[in-house]
Formats: sequence, C-alpha cells, structure tokens
Amino acid sequence: MSLSPILSAIADGEFHSGEELARLLGVSRTAVWKQLQKIQVQTGLSIESVKGRGYRLAEPLELLDQEVVATALAEPIRQLVTGFEIHEEVDSTNRIALQRAQDGNGRGHIIVAERQTAGRGRRGRQWVSPFGRNIYFSALWEFDGGAAALEGLSLAVGVAVASALKDVGVAGIGLKWPNDVVWDGRKLAGILLEMVGDAAGRCQVVIGIGINVAMARNELTAAIDQPWVDVATAAGSSVSRNRLLAALLTHLLPLLQRFEREGFASTHAEWSALDCFLGREVSVHLGETLILGRAAGVTSTGALLVDTPQGCRQFHGGEVSLRLAL
Ligand code: BTN
Repeated sequence: MSLSPILSAIADGEFHSGEELARLLGVSRTAVWKQLQKIQVQTGLSIESVKGRGYRLAEPLELLDQEVVATALAEPIRQLVTGFEIHEEVDSTNRIALQRAQDGNGRGHIIVAERQTAGRGRRGRQWVSPFGRNIYFSALWEFDGGAAALEGLSLAVGVAVASALKDVGVAGIGLKWPNDVVWDGRKLAGILLEMVGDAAGRCQVVIGIGINVAMARNELTAAIDQPWVDVATAAGSSVSRNRLLAALLTHLLPLLQRFEREGFASTHAEWSALDCFLGREVSVHLGETLILGRAAGVTSTGALLVDTPQGCRQFHGGEVSLRLAL
C-alpha cells in the first residue's frame, strides 16, 4: 500500500476511525495502524490517536493533486505540459528530471514532490524540503545554441516565480541577482538550473524551483543558514499549493517559449522592476576577492552591473556572490 490513499483519507484533519479507514482501504485495522506509524516516521507529520474517535492529522494537509492543477490551467498552458509526475518522496526533483531527459523526455516534462531527501541548492547547499509544506518543482526544457543561449535564463525564471507568487496574493516580492526570490529581505524561493547535452549545441535544461509555502519552525528549518520566509507569512494567509503550482506553470512555460525566441532581453524590464538591490551599496565576492560598489541593475543578457570607484563593472553568474554592504 502506498502512503497516498491513507494520507488522502486523513488529510482533512478530521477524525477517522480505524474501522472506517480499514474498510476504505480494504485492509485490516492493524494494517491501518502500522501504516499510520510508518507515515509519521517517513513524513514527520503528527497523527493523533484518540480512543473511541480514531485518528487525525494534527494539522490538515493539502496534498498535491494533478487533477486540481490541471483544472486550474488554461488550455494553451495544459498543452505545454507534456508529462506531469507527482512523487511523495524523491531525493531531488532536479535529479529525477535530469534522468528523464536522458531517458528521452523533452520540453514540458514536470516533476514535483511532497518531500525531497537530498534537495539541491546553489553552491552545493542542501535545500531543506519537509513533507507537504512547500513546492519542490522541476521542469525540463530544450534549447538550441548551447550554454551561451542560456545566459540570463535563471534571472528570467525568477520573474515567472515572482509573477506566480503575485497571483496567489503575495505583494512586495523582490529579486536578488542572480535569482533569489525575496520578501522583506528574506528568501522565499530559490532556483537551480542544471543542464545536460551539448554545451555548444542542443541542450536540455532542468529548471528547479523551490518555494517555501508554509514552513514550520523546527530543528530542520533551524539549520537553514540564511534568513527565510514562507508564502503564508508573506501573503498573510494560507495559500493552496495546487493553486500556486498552476500559477507557476502558467507563468513559467510561456516564459520559456519566449526566452527561446528572444533570450533574457524579453524579461529585462520586468526583472529590473523587481530588482531589490538597485542603487544599494553592495559587496561582490569573487572567490577571495571582494569588490565594493553600488548596484546598477543588470545588462540585457543578465550580467550584474556594479558602479565602483574604478568604473562600472559587469559580473556573470557562476561563482560570484552578491551581498548588501554592511
Ligand atoms: C537555491 O539554493 O537558491 C536553489 C534552490 C533550488 C531548490 C529546488 S527544490 C526543487 C528542485 N530540486 C532540487 O533538488 N533543487 C531544486
């Protein structure tokens, strides 16, 4: 028995008797009890058991649901989705998507998961990915023209994420070069692009997006080494993950099509309008070297511009890190 049927049955946060669950799932009451124990261990969810009433989740849970997402999509967007996988648990949705690329899947193949055990962040960091609380999303897309054609793609994706968040009620989103999505100076979402194929020709790109939706403060999230925030806090109310997922697809997939034709130039103005470091004193860290200056926006290919005492300098992604100067 997979976790889904029993989890779906108790997701509403109401009491369900062992007998009812056993009947529903066609198993014994002992099997129900064992399954619920397993769920607690695997997901970290807390399930209450009250004599005479049954079992309930300590907090109701909205599971990701392909039908709900599909229903929320306009037909032209639905047609851009060529495959849609929802997993209860994976190591990393990006890793699965890279594997799908190697297995011959192409643009528009989507992988999402309720939980990641080895979520990948930028600079080798781990992306903390508790069960059922956030969005862990990877989309596969193909581009001609190799790595050069992808310049600015991760910035453009930030614009799509910001638009999706705005659609579900988050106001005041900013982008921090190259692609952190921030709210009130804290990180709300992260983007990690990974590529396979010909670095000079046709390549497949995995666009990995993690959005904190309703993160609990616990020992897992205490390990995150930068200020973070979630959508529930930023929107001031709880937000449906399925709705957010639909909004993400609605903005991301057409943006990828447009990027193929026009590159970053087509989203340059939108990115600049969200640039939360523009005009601020910053430090740019290039390995051991530190450069101080004033952030001056980005170029039409997505390079960072910084006014320094030695003149205006450009920085490209990779190992550059940008911070506000203290
Ligand atoms: C960052 O460090 O800012 C990038 C984080 C990207 C996390 C997402 S979650 C879905 C996808 N799968 C992964 O393993 N990583 C990305």
